[in-house]
Amino acid sequence: MRDGQPNPVTRLADYQPPAFLVPDTRLDVDLRDGETRVTAHLKLERNPARADRPDELVLDGDHLDLRSVVLDGRELAPGDDYRLDGPRLIIPGVPEAFSLTTEVRIEPEKNTALEGLYRSNGMYCTQCEAEGFRRITFFPDRPDVLSRFTTTIHADKGAYPLLLSNGNPVDAGDEADGRHFATWEDPFPKPCYLFALVAGDLACLADTFTTASGRDVALRLYAEHRDLDKLDHAMDSLKRSMAWDEKVFGREYDLDIFQIVAVSHFNMGAMENKGLNIFNTSCVLAHPATTTDAGFERVESVVAHEYFHNWSGNRVTCRDWFQLSLKEGFTVFRDQEFSSDMNSRAVVRVENVDFLVNHQFPEDQGPMAHPVRPAEYQKIDNFYTLTVYEKGAEIVRMQSQLLGAEDFRRATDLYFERFDGQAVTCDDFVACMEQVSGLDLAQFKRWYAQAGTPVLTVEDEYVDGEYRLTFEQHTPPTPGQPDKAPLMVPVKLALLDGEGRALPLDDQGRTETVVILREARETRAFPVPARPTPSLLRGFSAPVSLRYDFDERQLNTLLAHDSDGFCRWDAAQRLYFAALARVVDGGETPADQVARLTPVIEQVIARADEDPAQAALLLTLPTENAVGDRHTPLHPQRVHAAVSGLRAALGEALADAWWRLAEGLRESDYQGDGAAMGRRRLRQVALGYLAAAAGAGQVDPEPLVAHLSATLAAPTCMTEELGALRALVHNRLPGHDAALKAFGERWKDEPLVMDQWFGVQATVPGADTVDRAEALLAHPAFEWTLPNRVRAVIATLVNANPSAFHAPDGSGYRLFARALKKLDGINPQIAARLANGGARLKRLEPGLAQQLGDALRDLRPGASANLAEVLDRILDA
Ligand code: PHE
Ligand code: ZN
Repeated sequence: MRDGQPNPVTRLADYQPPAFLVPDTRLDVDLRDGETRVTAHLKLERNPARADRPDELVLDGDHLDLRSVVLDGRELAPGDDYRLDGPRLIIPGVPEAFSLTTEVRIEPEKNTALEGLYRSNGMYCTQCEAEGFRRITFFPDRPDVLSRFTTTIHADKGAYPLLLSNGNPVDAGDEADGRHFATWEDPFPKPCYLFALVAGDLACLADTFTTASGRDVALRLYAEHRDLDKLDHAMDSLKRSMAWDEKVFGREYDLDIFQIVAVSHFNMGAMENKGLNIFNTSCVLAHPATTTDAGFERVESVVAHEYFHNWSGNRVTCRDWFQLSLKEGFTVFRDQEFSSDMNSRAVVRVENVDFLVNHQFPEDQGPMAHPVRPAEYQKIDNFYTLTVYEKGAEIVRMQSQLLGAEDFRRATDLYFERFDGQAVTCDDFVACMEQVSGLDLAQFKRWYAQAGTPVLTVEDEYVDGEYRLTFEQHTPPTPGQPDKAPLMVPVKLALLDGEGRALPLDDQGRTETVVILREARETRAFPVPARPTPSLLRGFSAPVSLRYDFDERQLNTLLAHDSDGFCRWDAAQRLYFAALARVVDGGETPADQVARLTPVIEQVIARADEDPAQAALLLTLPTENAVGDRHTPLHPQRVHAAVSGLRAALGEALADAWWRLAEGLRESDYQGDGAAMGRRRLRQVALGYLAAAAGAGQVDPEPLVAHLSATLAAPTCMTEELGALRALVHNRLPGHDAALKAFGERWKDEPLVMDQWFGVQATVPGADTVDRAEALLAHPAFEWTLPNRVRAVIATLVNANPSAFHAPDGSGYRLFARALKKLDGINPQIAARLANGGARLKRLEPGLAQQLGDALRDLRPGASANLAEVLDRILDA
């Protein structure tokens, strides 16, 4: 807790290499309820790269009860030989090379922050990234200190039959009093943030993978015994990831064993600890009866993501935490490419772009905006952001496009080879791209340093047989960065004729070209026979906000004929945004929009069986947040009325078409392939429109309620079951309460399904959902110490239910503030992350802004460093 003191700031410009290196680390962890003991034997030596040769050793620690310090066999005395400076251990006058043994006591049972060593449902587990290792033992807790770890774990054999750590098992045996031990040795030097340990009684799914060079790798997935039947999809995803990384990036796995443990209490999605990944149960467990199709997709991509980190993150790691995107942006790019190869590339691209523009863009345009490589932070935990991950992936994607597939592969080969076993920077990554391609990427690197979403304004004219496009780029100011320089922006484009055919753009008849912009304003000319419709930013070739004054005819042409999946989706979104703007600001009604939109929608529906998943995306209206972000000041209730009104109006006007889809796509039994998932997705969209119309009293609810009830009585899978429940509950259709009750009863023993049950209720539109959320917080199954449950109720209410969160009486804000205060005492990382839900404060109309500001200001005194950093940015912006 800070007491009115500002948090210390860490700056990239202050980076210095570590004073001491730790070539070898032997840990001995003696797990006992209430008195866990950690003994660390470190071999240390002065770092020749550090010119000023400090003779003090400074080790990080946090929440450690220090019992003894032994240097080269001599026990040190507190005061004279060492001192504790806040959380740090300082030993002055140390030799060039020495051994150090420390013994500490820790209390994993009381660790609700879920960093370091903690307990979850009767097992012990760890989370060390970014700075959690210091809660286990004293150590230079920074990613550029790589050490070879040997770990011995002791525990009660009955309660903890399974003892795991990184690397390979090298020893195990029984000890007195029903206890046992196991020793693991990791041959690869690694930073301590990749350390992991697990002790528990877990079920195991085992398999093997034979690498390209013919080595057999043992694969082990662990979960609670009751979840053993939910591990097949993760295993399958893992094997496909391993094969894909060999084929596409030439990367083979390097240990003899790869393990994943599923843990209920986890702050994030998953963690790539060397050879021992630890996963949030929500990102590894999957079964058709309990997991939606979206959940299956998420498991596939997170398993791949963590596996891919073995090279992009573990073998080559980050020099400091400012370089976080070096591993995260690159690894997200890799997992996106994997998902594209495993599923429909066009659909995955639209999903990724949709996520970026609807979540990362708002971050980049609000008080938390920061560069992909930040220049400073207070708590690094607050920088595991969509900017570092998703925008970081776009920056890697742009480089892959600039180089082309072959050169990009040569450049990543060079990167992995040159930096294997090292801790490096984003500059090192780009240098490999430059060396292989001969491109000068100096200007390109501004993408790493400059925050904010660039706005690309395009104007056109057709003169004398020439179509001229003028591009103007401008990046608005962001906190701490008032002025921005022009970026290198690759704009992929095509030009469509009146029939929607792409025109040839060169002698070879190529119909697609990439314009690489470097200046604030540039014009390009294309000789074409008549004024075309421009298809701009194809594939979303750069993460910019595109402004071009498309007319409705052009958008219809793009939607109907463009071969680029992103441009079709973008055209549909622009049509919806325009219709909604006419309602929010233009005084028109939702019903007024129907005549203009129905031909478009009918056309998409007519072609839906070409690709049902893509049709589902094309038929999905923008979210209330997305619409609200286009109107200043923000009136959330007005936006809600417009979006829900339009959905109901389209539901009514096209009821027959929606019914045909809903009935035609109904499955008699479950199938798990991508095509079946696409059909279910489209069916859910159709049901959503019908339910909106029924809920608004614009169509007779009776047949729909009968249909949904039949689904709930005999669902083929969770996608269907949850979809039916959501349709009933969100639209308050007859029988919704009974359906909720039955669902809650049926799934009370499945925590991940109960998260969905809580989430459905927290997202019922309308201000009265705040009261419902209060009741959910008092529900016996609600747990403040379980991040998934907290997210299911509070994060969903705040981030995905604007009409409730922004209740006119301010009750949503007060609930938010109370929850933040409570959580901050339990888990500051989760509190800070949740606090980002207040980031639209300055966009709100004054009455609401006042109430939200008051609620958040009350939290400042006594806030944790994590929460304080976020509150300060939001309130002081
Ligand atoms: N490094 C993890 C990833 O794969 C994320 C993470 C960060 C998990 C910090 C836990 C704590 O993205
Ligand atoms: Zn990652």
